[in-house]
Amino acid sequence: MGVSIQYLHKAFDLVDGKPKYVLEDVNLEVENGEFICILGKSGCGKSTFLNLLAGYLKPDKGRIAVNGVDIDGPSETRGVVFQQHALFPWYTVRQNIEFGLRLRKQKDAAEVASKYIQMIGLEIYEGAYPAELSGGMAQRVGIARALAPDSDVLLMDEPLGALDALTRELMRQEITRIWQLSKKTIFFITHSVPEAVYLADRVVLFKDGHIDADVPIDLSRPRDMKTAAFQEYVEQFAERLAECESEQRAVQAE
Ligand SMILES: Nc1ncnc2c1ncn2[C@@H]1O[C@H](COP(=O)(O)OP(=O)(O)O)[C@@H](O)[C@H]1O
Ligand SMILES: [Mg+2]
Repeated sequence: MGVSIQYLHKAFDLVDGKPKYVLEDVNLEVENGEFICILGKSGCGKSTFLNLLAGYLKPDKGRIAVNGVDIDGPSETRGVVFQQHALFPWYTVRQNIEFGLRLRKQKDAAEVASKYIQMIGLEIYEGAYPAELSGGMAQRVGIARALAPDSDVLLMDEPLGALDALTRELMRQEITRIWQLSKKTIFFITHSVPEAVYLADRVVLFKDGHIDADVPIDLSRPRDMKTAAFQEYVEQFAERLAECESEQRAVQAE
C-alpha cells in the first residue's frame, strides 16, 4: 500500500514525430505517511510530476496507484497546495475549509473544519477573510483545506516559494508539525536544498525528467540546520544539482 509510480512517461510535444518526454521512466514507491521532497532545477519536470499525481494530467505510459487503486483524474483524496494560495476571497477561513465538505453534504463538516482550524493554529482567525491574512497564514488555510476531506495524500508545489525568509522558516516547522499530527503522505516540491533536507524522510532528486537520486534523510526531528550532519546532506545535494547545471550548459553550448 502507499503510492506506487511505475514506468511513468509524459510528453507535451513531438520532435521529428517522436514524443519529447518531460518525464521518462519514472519509478517510485512511497509508503503511507512518508514525507517525500522532490528537488530539482527549474524545468526538470517537478510540476508535471505533481500534476500527474493530482490527476490533472494523464500519463502517456506507465501508472500511478494510490493504495492499490489507479489514479483516474483529480480527487479530493489527493489534496493540492500551490505556491499562490487559491482561497475563495469572499469566504472566511472556516468557510474555505468547509467548502469541499459542504459540497459533498458531509454532516460533520463544522466539526472536521474545527479540527483542522485547530491543527493549523488559526482558531482566532476562523472568521477572517483571506485578504486579512498574512501569506503564511493563507498557506496554512490552504493546507487545512486540502487535508479536510480526509485525503490520503497531500501534494505541495513550492508552497513556501512566495513567502519571506522568516515566515518560510516558521512554515517549515509548522508543516512538520501538521504532517506529524495528520500522518498523511506528503509530496513536497522545492528547489531549496536546505528546505528539502529539513522536511523530508526521503529526498528524490529529479534531473532532466528522471530520478537521479533517492536519498533517505537519517536525521531525527526537530532538525537543526546548523549541525555538521545536516550540512553534509546539503552539500551532497548541492553538488549533484550543480552537476545538472553544468551538463545543461554543455548541452546548450553545443
Ligand atoms: N502544458 C505544457 N505544455 C507544454 N510544455 C510544458 C507544459 N507543462 C510543462 N511543460 C514543459 O515541461 C518541462 C518541465 O516543466 P515543469 O514540470 O513545469 O518543470 P519544473 O516544475 O521542474 O520547473 C519544461 O520544459 C516545460 O516547458
Ligand atoms: Mg514547477
